[in-house]
Amino acid sequence: MKILLLGSGGREHALAWKISQSPLVSKLYIAPGNAGTRLVGRNVPIKATDFEAIRQFVIAEDIDMVVVGPEQPLVEGIYDYFRNERYVRNVPVIGPSKMGAQLEGSKDFAKAFMQRHGIPTAAYRTFTPDTIAEGKDFLRTLQPPYVLKADGLCAGKGVLILDTLEEAERELEEMLGGMFGQASSRVVIEEYLSGIECSVFVLTDGRDYKILPVAKDYKRIGEGDTGLNTGGMGSVSPVPFADAEFMKKVEKRIIRPTIEGLREEHIDYRGFIFLGLIRVDRDYSCAKAGDPMVIEYNVRMGDPETESVMLRIESDLVDLLCGVAERNLGSRKLTIDPRTAVSVMLVSGGYPEHYEKGFPITGLDTVEDSIVFHAGTKVAVAEDGTEQVVTDGGRVLAVSSYGANRKEALATSFASAKRIEFEGKYLRRDIGSDL
Ligand code: AMP
Ligand code: GLY
Repeated sequence: MKILLLGSGGREHALAWKISQSPLVSKLYIAPGNAGTRLVGRNVPIKATDFEAIRQFVIAEDIDMVVVGPEQPLVEGIYDYFRNERYVRNVPVIGPSKMGAQLEGSKDFAKAFMQRHGIPTAAYRTFTPDTIAEGKDFLRTLQPPYVLKADGLCAGKGVLILDTLEEAERELEEMLGGMFGQASSRVVIEEYLSGIECSVFVLTDGRDYKILPVAKDYKRIGEGDTGLNTGGMGSVSPVPFADAEFMKKVEKRIIRPTIEGLREEHIDYRGFIFLGLIRVDRDYSCAKAGDPMVIEYNVRMGDPETESVMLRIESDLVDLLCGVAERNLGSRKLTIDPRTAVSVMLVSGGYPEHYEKGFPITGLDTVEDSIVFHAGTKVAVAEDGTEQVVTDGGRVLAVSSYGANRKEALATSFASAKRIEFEGKYLRRDIGSDL
């Protein structure tokens, strides 16, 4: 079959790498892809949100399945667009409907959904520019730190955690005053949850589901989880604290009610669900210390978690995706590699603030023991026609490795990372050390 994968980051290179290994696949296209995805498929210069161009490509190339990497096309409704267009309405799109994508596209929708279905999450209320005064009153009922979330998509920047009431009131005014444009025309204020986080990925056909390997990502730029938030500096899988007992609670209290809730509400959802969970370290009204609570839903795989998770899926991912499309996921088999997988991100100097792009990357061919997934890279063609892979983003490469344990896998990734050079290269050496 012919598959079109949408997106251009490290997550998409990892998905493409896994998809390309399937004997079911005759052709894999990635739109728009990056310098890494072209090694496992063919890049096509179409933006992941250009639905009309995607539709035309799907018809012209006789594509059998569209797999959506990032959230933006899902929140903009690519699933419904395909269902409503002649000629492509029978081409499966792996990802939720526009309504389902609201689990990520609107924090207020996600919180209300969880409340309706008794899924443990932080207590909250939602405010608009007309209810700023009530918002400030609500803040006064909470203990610091204060958590403010822009309702809509903000490229990972919409969550503020503030230590004082004064800061929280000021930021609430700014957010509702248009700090993130339309995305912050509504603001969710919620109770702060204390504990340790992990990412649980579920693949569902709307009825059955498979729980993919659990991972943990590292968001801050600095070692010891300090400094600014990034798109992710590394990931590890498995996560020791997400043991059988914890996962039993996750499945019973979170995964099943989520899938059943979607079904009860007639929300068409055939794709990945990413549960951002926290194992709380004290009691809350809906969970006890040690229990899982939901921080957020995403409607796609995580980045850089995917770069580790794909290494641990032994079965044919495309077979599972066919199960999603054909609504018989329950009859497909998921087997998981018992080894540990880790990913260490190599980022541009200055990231996540100002950084430069276009630096040549050397040593990629010398890496033998790790799999290097490209995130922000592109191919630059010199005047004499020679091609060179150059940096093209803040997060440049994910160096992913297997190991019998975390220590071994990390040592392999660090050794491989040493072989790769570009100006300003930076990485965190403490990935996984909090576990
Ligand atoms: P998001 O941008 O939604 O991924 O949220 C960013 C991060 O903010 C999460 O990964 C958590 O670390 C943190 N966060 C969000 N909500 C809460 C909360 N209620 N309590 C504690 N931390 C939170
Ligand atoms: N790693 C977190 C995310 O993909 O949103």
